[in-house]
Amino acid sequence: MNLTRQTLQAGAYSLRPLARGDARDLLALFGDPAVVQFMDIEPLTAIDQARDIIDWARELAERGDGLRWSIRRAGEGRLIGTCGFNTIELERGRRGEVAYDLAQAEWGRGVMSEILPHVIAYGFGALGLHRLEAMVTVGNGRSCALLERHGFQREGLLRDHAWWKGRYWDQLIYGRVAD
Ligand SMILES: CC(C)(COP(=O)(O)OP(=O)(O)OC[C@H]1O[C@@H](n2cnc3c(N)ncnc32)[C@H](O)[C@@H]1OP(=O)(O)O)[C@@H](O)C(=O)NCCC(=O)NCCS
Repeated sequence: MNLTRQTLQAGAYSLRPLARGDARDLLALFGDPAVVQFMDIEPLTAIDQARDIIDWARELAERGDGLRWSIRRAGEGRLIGTCGFNTIELERGRRGEVAYDLAQAEWGRGVMSEILPHVIAYGFGALGLHRLEAMVTVGNGRSCALLERHGFQREGLLRDHAWWKGRYWDQLIYGRVAD
């Protein structure tokens, strides 16, 4: 399943697969230490790092193993964040791992709360998934609150689940199962 052409209108926001032309905006987004604090990357410092992320996202979408959209207010050119599915598993289960991020200036305004229901509906609908998951680094309270507002349950703590930035990180696993 090739997902490279999948777009989504999420309320007032237009979601489009990350594309090469997004590199400069992505560098600004992931160059902010606050945005990547709980993510698996150091703040970006070079445009090639942004291009590598875009290539990773494109390959995921080509294989149907995931999908990462850019987020823009409808009718505006500026990228304000990204979201989508880091993984999609359709053979030994029907589940996907949601992921999202916003530029710091957009936090605390309900932007992701408007978008996430559309991503959830797309996962259960168009992708035919039965279970949605999210992995949250301990301490990322905004992400936990977002998930809990949208019907995800905290299912457990995965000790030393991730390794990045030179150390292990505990992660919380959240899940929401189709009705
Ligand atoms: C995770 C992240 C997207 C959450 O952003 P957020 O703005 O807190 O999430 P929401 O869109 O749900 O907005 C909720 C906030 O908007 C406020 N708000 C304003 N209008 C609102 C509305 N109409 N509906 C809901 N909330 C609204 C809420 O009060 C809340 O603010 P508060 O937490 O200061 O009280 C953001 O913190 C982020 O990008 N972090 C960096 C990347 C990251 O860590 N990603 C997650 C990896 S697991």
